[in-house]
Amino acid sequence: MAPWPSVSARLDTFRRDLSTVANDVLGRPRTSFEWRVPLARHLAMGLPRRALLTPRTVRIERVIRETEEAVTLHLVDPEGSPFVFLPGQFLTLLVELEGETLRRAYSICSGLDEPTGGVAVTVKRVPNGRVSSLLVTQARPGDLLGVLGPSGNFTVSPDAARRRDLVLIGGGSGITPLFSMAQSVLAREPASTVRLLFANRSWDEIIFRAALESLEETYSGRFTVRHVLESAPEGWQGGLGRLDVEGCTAELEGLAGAIDETLEPPEFFVCGPEGLMAVVRDALRALRVPASRIHEERFASPGQLTSPASSSSPGQSAGSTTASAPQPLTLGGRGQGRTVVASAGQTLLEAGLGAGVAMPFSCAVGGCGACKVRLVLGSVEMEEPNCLSSEERARGFVLACASRATSAVTVEVP
Ligand SMILES: Cc1cc2nc3c(=O)[nH]c(=O)nc-3n(C[C@H](O)[C@H](O)[C@H](O)COP(=O)(O)OP(=O)(O)OC[C@H]3O[C@@H](n4cnc5c(N)ncnc54)[C@H](O)[C@@H]3O)c2cc1C
Ligand code: FES
Repeated sequence: MAPWPSVSARLDTFRRDLSTVANDVLGRPRTSFEWRVPLARHLAMGLPRRALLTPRTVRIERVIRETEEAVTLHLVDPEGSPFVFLPGQFLTLLVELEGETLRRAYSICSGLDEPTGGVAVTVKRVPNGRVSSLLVTQARPGDLLGVLGPSGNFTVSPDAARRRDLVLIGGGSGITPLFSMAQSVLAREPASTVRLLFANRSWDEIIFRAALESLEETYSGRFTVRHVLESAPEGWQGGLGRLDVEGCTAELEGLAGAIDETLEPPEFFVCGPEGLMAVVRDALRALRVPASRIHEERFASPGQLTSPASSSSPGQSAGSTTASAPQPLTLGGRGQGRTVVASAGQTLLEAGLGAGVAMPFSCAVGGCGACKVRLVLGSVEMEEPNCLSSEERARGFVLACASRATSAVTVEVP
């Protein structure tokens, strides 16, 4: 259960209300995503007590414009409590928009040693994106937000004894988790090296451009950045053109440069648009990098129904069924045995929430595992890839946010 708001949180609310009134009087536009976290609201949302699923209120301390389309929000806990996270993890921001609470995942881009004890996330506007547009244009210092997490398995755990060779490959806003990893590993692992291959459309769109340069200076010899641009300014020395498999293979070979043989074998972390990730995957395969040393993070749900699972053989193909018809969905456990109808194309999560069942969830795109339910009867199609481990699949778990029923289904909601 969420705590009652403390005195300082109430003061924050009071201050914000004052500024809202002042803005109204002065005719300034209001920030429409301000978030309050009264207990009744949590109960109404049916959020469970587990830490991952209990929203925490954070205050935007600073807003830094990175590019025309991207801003970094520095977040602090109004109580001063530090954030505990692993580099690469993400927060789920709860944003109120037109009477709806929208949840969106944003990777923590700050390192583990942020002097404020806070964290930062960088939001890049996607065309017609509801939340990203709002945050990029309207987030202001002092605004309060609800956040869930941190969550996610795309992580590094810095360890001073490691002699790591970390290769980070990013595209556009996919730099965010990689930047957190780079800062944290460089600061905490004195013998490790980090190499970054960073693809962008143009020079002006490079997020953290100056910060990356300064990190290269600070950790000269241990951190190198190779930029690849689709269109570049005159005299450009970096890579040029849209990366294809051949170009990416060449870039990765170039990055290898003078590898220190005493380091651990390179480990690859990849985050960017799906097209780039597919290219990198093929390039790494061509370079015979074992799959166990490749880690990927996706910012958008794959939206493909490619992994049928059934209660008799979870995780195995259940034939050529499709989730194109309404199906009865029985929600056991916390769902208290209620049966609802999942309409064609609806995820189990959407069906459960739509019927008012307190389904746990956070990122809603298969990235955090918060919506895990056990498939007791029936079969579903699950979007792939997602964060579910093979062990969880073997135990019959599916992700409610990424699964659609292909028959009458019974699941147990933990
Ligand atoms: C684990 C994880 C970490 C993430 N970290 C970051 C981050 O650090 N910085 C960041 O800017 N974003 C990040 N995202 C993406 C973010 O969660 C939102 O999906 C994104 O901001 C779009 O939300 P929206 O409400 O603006 O768009 P919506 O209103 O939901 O969608 C508008 C349109 O844009 C398309 N769309 C939605 N998301 C994307 C996307 N990511 N790329 C391209 N098209 C999209 C939709 O299909 C739709 O057509 C992350 C996502 C995940 C799953
Ligand atoms: S809510 Fe995050 S995986 Fe489903």
